[in-house]
Amino acid sequence: MAEPNVLVERNGRVGVVLMNRPKQLNALSAELMESVVSSLGELDADPGIRAIVLGGSERAFAAGADIAELSAATPVTLYENRRLERWESIRAVRTPIVAAVSGFCLGGGCELAMLCDLIVASEDAKFGQPEINLGVLPGAGGTQRLTRAVGKAIAMDMILTGRMLSAREALAHGLVARVVAREAWLDEAKRAAAEIAEKGPVAVRLAKEAIDQAFETPLAAGVELERRSFFLARASDDAEEGLKAFLEKRKPDFTGR
Ligand code: HXC
Repeated sequence: MAEPNVLVERNGRVGVVLMNRPKQLNALSAELMESVVSSLGELDADPGIRAIVLGGSERAFAAGADIAELSAATPVTLYENRRLERWESIRAVRTPIVAAVSGFCLGGGCELAMLCDLIVASEDAKFGQPEINLGVLPGAGGTQRLTRAVGKAIAMDMILTGRMLSAREALAHGLVARVVAREAWLDEAKRAAAEIAEKGPVAVRLAKEAIDQAFETPLAAGVELERRSFFLARASDDAEEGLKAFLEKRKPDFTGR
């Protein structure tokens, strides 16, 4: 039987999705992306799962869209099959997603990592948008999300020259949240996800949504959304429990209600 192109496991409240096309450095074929998107959707629909880790292998998170497929595609097939729109559906996942990045995180791979909520990177990770070397440009949000993450100067440098950033540079420029020792890339991402999974899921989801809105709305509208989300979270059983547990000097037991 053929190896599955993603490996999915559940570690308690954390769902882990690992891309598994090692020979092609997890090049994101349509089939692989379909498995990634559907696995994330299934975990998101599972009330027992409160955080997700998405990773690749030690050598590569993903080296980009599958260049052989891209080369066989026509503008019309790209338009008609709507595959790139499926990538964007990852933003609709409400459960926080931690990208666990080791090795190459390039092109569509970097765009996929940026579709996640935070990135934990090995000190050896390399981030880049090298599409320009192929005569194209990022097509799954790279020009927009990278610019919002690192600012215009670094985004222009990376996208126009194809220059890769080391993990330390990516941390300094705000693309990644944590850089860890080479061997700890997956464990640390799982640890971050487990920390998130211990919090009240209602507040976590509302907070994720509010942070995302920071890139979509004017400041006053974003602050208004945050205030309403705060009131909504305050109405949850989780807030009753969290506030009471603090006053009673004990750990809260959140139910997600
Ligand atoms: C298909 C790929 C691939 C890719 C690597 N491979 N990247 N196949 N698509 N994106 C394959 C190689 O062909 C090779 O297969 C095997 O993986 C190992 O790669 P090597 O090149 O031999 O490894 P190495 O010398 O270590 O170099 C690693 C690398 C290089 C620097 C990451 O592979 C590389 O530059 N890859 C392409 C990176 C890139 O341009 N990404 C952007 C793609 S366009 P064989 O069979 O020879 O062993 C993109 C557009 C997104 O992402 C648009 C929206 C989706």
